[in-house]
Amino acid sequence: MLDDKDRIFTNLYGMHDRSLAGARARGHWDGTAEIIARGKDTIIEQMKASGLRGRGGAGFPTGLKWSFMPKQSDGRPSYLVINADESEPGTCKDREIMRHDPHTLIEGALIASFAMGANACYIYIRGEYIREREALQAALDECYDAGLLGKNAAKSGWDFDCYLHHGAGAYICGEETALLESLEGKKGMPRMKPPFPAGSGLYGCPTTVNNVESIAVVPTILRRGPEWFAGFGRPNNAGTKLFGISGHVNNPCVVEEAMSITLRELLDVHCGGVRGGWKNIKAVIPGGSSVPMLNAAQCEDAIMDFDWLREQRSGLGTAAVIVMDQSTDVIKAIWRLSKFYKHESCGQCTPCREGTGWMMRVMDRLVRGEAEVEEIDMLLSVTKQVEGHTICALGDAAAWPIQGLVRHFREEIEDRIKAKRTGRMGAMAAE
Ligand code: NAI
Ligand code: SF4
Repeated sequence: MLDDKDRIFTNLYGMHDRSLAGARARGHWDGTAEIIARGKDTIIEQMKASGLRGRGGAGFPTGLKWSFMPKQSDGRPSYLVINADESEPGTCKDREIMRHDPHTLIEGALIASFAMGANACYIYIRGEYIREREALQAALDECYDAGLLGKNAAKSGWDFDCYLHHGAGAYICGEETALLESLEGKKGMPRMKPPFPAGSGLYGCPTTVNNVESIAVVPTILRRGPEWFAGFGRPNNAGTKLFGISGHVNNPCVVEEAMSITLRELLDVHCGGVRGGWKNIKAVIPGGSSVPMLNAAQCEDAIMDFDWLREQRSGLGTAAVIVMDQSTDVIKAIWRLSKFYKHESCGQCTPCREGTGWMMRVMDRLVRGEAEVEEIDMLLSVTKQVEGHTICALGDAAAWPIQGLVRHFREEIEDRIKAKRTGRMGAMAAE
């Protein structure tokens, strides 16, 4: 279990003062100018050495992403954009940072922006996060009043402005290029990549888009040293991490733990265990709705990090752990996700626009058992035609949960079809 002294988020549950005075008392904004004085290259090298991988879901190495930004300006401004459009079903970790520890994010934004040569940062926050928006804006105002933002921010010699922009309830605006379109005042539709945002991002300028947690951990990593952060977790899976656990556990919670913690320890120590005991587990979605589920056998030895979960054909994603016990209708659970993705598809590319509709309609019948057994393979083949053939990851996200369902619960799907048929035939015989 992670020691309290190694927790970056010291006010995750809002037990302390979240104002600037409270944040300072907990060590934030301490020596920020000295960190910046290390210089851009050193900061980026230290971030690479820390092993931090993006906390928004994809796990791309953060320091490496920062290094893609141009070293010399070609006349275009550079931007940092913070993705606070937290919308992945099951995911509620960034919300806690913004509500209770907003200064970790703002201090991180200043340091990261400096390292990438950006004088401005936009925080794009999910429209429904109203209290979080208020908390962040209050923290930004305090920082301006205290000289931590604006000209010569925090006496670092770097001019830096930070703006808060709120979305309007579209899941797709959490995809980084749709987010940029939305920020520019356009419809939130993903762009083709490449070019990646570092080459052409906001207003066609060099931009890095990072998740809230990825930026909020930066000041502590640089204060305590990259080797401290790299000391947690298995190789290539470094650091501490926020996990958000929901579903059939006794105490759902968001908790900071060392990466590579076992699922069992995570649930037993922090969530009071699985409802009805460990043996009552049926399946777990370990990383938000976009990743395939694990079955009960996989849960036994599950290690919560990027590489272990990928080897299991699942993923750490946003580390939103959704626990389902034996009472769960897993077919219905995945049907509900199919409905979600169908609704949230922006519709600009055919495999996703049509495929999400196809998948949802077949799931609709499977959930009622009103399908032919052969349709299970047809559904799988539709997921393969969507996966990897779309502009953005939403297509994959719609396909993967279904693939996981069929991989682990084909028998349950077939049984439902057979039961329905037997019932139907029984009813016909009786007529
Ligand atoms: P991605 O793998 O395409 O990209 C990850 C990041 O690395 C992006 O910033 C991208 O620009 C950068 N990148 C990747 N390859 C690059 C290259 N060759 N050169 C330069 N930069 C490169 O993944 P994406 O689409 O950004 O994220 C998908 C993930 O997002 C899913 O796995 C899901 O878990 C997560 N997600 C999170 C949500 C949330 O609420 N936090 C909502 C929906 C999805
Ligand atoms: Fe839009 Fe779906 Fe294509 Fe993404 S994959 S661009 S959400 S239609």
